[in-house]
Formats: sequence, structure tokens, C-alpha cells
Amino acid sequence: MALHIEKTTKSKISSVDFNNLKFGQIFTDHMFECDYENGQWQTPKIRPYQPIAFDPSAKVFHYGQAVFEGMKAYKDDNNDVWLFRPDQNQERINKSAERLDMPAFPKEYFFEGLTELLKLDKDWVQKGEGNSLYIRPFVIATENCVSASSSTNYKFMIICSPVQAYYAGEVRVEIADKYSRSANGGVGYAKAAGNYAASFYPAKLAAQQGYQQVLWTDASTHEYLEEAGTMNVFFRVNDTLLTAPTSERILDGVTRKSIIQFAEDKGIKVEVRPVKVSEIVEAAKKGELLEMFGAGTAAVISPILGFAHKGEKFELPKVENSYASFIKKSITDIQRNLAEDKFGWRYKIQ
Ligand code: COI
Repeated sequence: MALHIEKTTKSKISSVDFNNLKFGQIFTDHMFECDYENGQWQTPKIRPYQPIAFDPSAKVFHYGQAVFEGMKAYKDDNNDVWLFRPDQNQERINKSAERLDMPAFPKEYFFEGLTELLKLDKDWVQKGEGNSLYIRPFVIATENCVSASSSTNYKFMIICSPVQAYYAGEVRVEIADKYSRSANGGVGYAKAAGNYAASFYPAKLAAQQGYQQVLWTDASTHEYLEEAGTMNVFFRVNDTLLTAPTSERILDGVTRKSIIQFAEDKGIKVEVRPVKVSEIVEAAKKGELLEMFGAGTAAVISPILGFAHKGEKFELPKVENSYASFIKKSITDIQRNLAEDKFGWRYKIQ
């Protein structure tokens, strides 16, 4: 595969305070891009990170035909850079693209682009607990035309941002009983840009009530718990972990599936099944709901300290031997090459 590389002549890295990063605000020196024109992906290129110009009629601005991924790179003490299950993201961006009627991006372009970009911007991957480089591959519709139909042209890009924690403080959630993030037959399982845009208004209303995220329920009955904000969600009732099965409404999260596999391997009982709002409320009342946590690439594993349902408020107890802490530490140790990788999840950049 031909890849055209134009290196920056002036790195921005010395201006970055890596100890005080707000999530997703600073970007590395280079970006990867590849255009789809005349029915095929053209020669990909890496060039200095910079603004890109589009015609105001580009379809992405009007119809939101756009999908994305979230991945992270980690640096170990030998200065090696690692990805976590990148094959999962590569497959998922094409599943998302298919649902939005966008062309699949070739696997070899994805991996070569990502590898070369990370080699160029290796210094931006910081070592140490809590540090990583957030990687954002995305595809947007670039045809200049406002007719409401699939674009003929697209742009695939990868940009990278050094990050620390996603949430600065404690997380409490409000269980949705009016708005929904996804519906049967919809795009909930895809990382479609519009899924996130549509969640911002309900999230703002929840924030006005003091909740950092919405705990999404199924659109038809609001009786089943599905996701938390931009994360999959887990509940620990006594010693059992519960999480909803993936479906056309729920994102097939890489962190989610890794938690399930890891926990089962450690002998923790995991039930992947529809989780009723009423059973979680009951468990909270009986003191049996010991933990709740969100799981996602950006937020890793984020403990949820409390929730509200139809105006009733619940706080979770402080537990010793937290599953969330144990699983988070174990999975991030695998990601950072500090622990054995018995599942074959790590991928070295070389
Ligand atoms: C991720 O966890 O990578 C996500 O996609 C969440 C993002 C919207 C910040």
C-alpha cells in the first residue's frame, strides 16, 4: 500500500502540559487521512495536524453521515507503544459505516495508517498510570450536495489526543424515563456521530439536576437498563455482575466484552441478560446493589456512586474489594504491558 507521509517541521509537543490535560482538547503533530472518490479509496496520507476545508454543502454538515471509533495507545517502561484489541475497532467502524451506508475502509489501510501515525507521534504517548493517547478514527460524508441521499465521497481520518481521566469528578446518573438514545431497527449499536449529538440535550437536563450522565433505558418501555452516557453499564448485585446483552440498540463495547471475559476467567459470576430498572431499584433498597460502573474506552471503568429514578435518589455503599477497582487495575495493567496478556489483547506498534 502506498502511504504518502509529510512530516511536520515544528513539533508542538514542548507547549503541552501533560499533567493537566482536559480530555480531547490537544492533538498530536500529525493526522492520517484518506479520501473515497470515484468508488474507491485513494492513496492515504499522513500530514501535519491542521484545519481542513470543506464546501458548506458537504453532506456531513446537513445529514450527519458520520461514524467514529475510540481507541487508546499506552507506553510501557521500555518505551514500547501498545494498542488494546485494535482489530475490534477496525471491524466495528466498518459495521457502523455499513449501517450509515458508507463504504468499508480497508483493514490494511487502517492498520498501516495507524501504525505509521503512532510511530511518528510516539513521543505524545506518555508513560505512567492514567496516561494514554486517545485515538479517534472517523469517516465523514464529503460530497458537495444537499440532496438527502448517501454521499458519493468520503474522508477517513485518524487524529490523536494525549489524555488522562475522562471524568474529572464523581459520577451519578439519572435513569431515563422520557428520552431514549436508540430504538429497535435504529443506529444505537453503531458509533454514529448523531447518536451522541442526540444525547446531549437529555444529558444537559440531567446535569441541571446534578447528574453527570443519563442511564439509558429501552425506548419502548423504559423498564430495562441499557447504557450509561457514552458507556456500557454494569451492576453488581451481591457478588454477581449484571450487564445488558448487546443488541441493535446497544454498542458492542470493547471494554465491556473485555470485562465480561476477564471477570468470568477470575470466577466472578457474570449474567449478561436484560436488566430491569425495578430489580436494580429493589436491590438498592435492600442494600444488595453494591456497585455500578460505566465501561468504555474513553472513561475506562468509571464507578457510578448514585442514581435517581423518577425523582427518588439512591446512593451506593462504599465497598471493600470493589469489583470495579479490581477489574480496572487488572485490565489497565494488561493494556500497559504490566501484566500477563493471557487473552492476546495487546498489539505492539512496530
Ligand atoms: C469512547 O469511549 O471511546 C467513546 O466513544 C466515548 C466518546 C464519545 C468520548
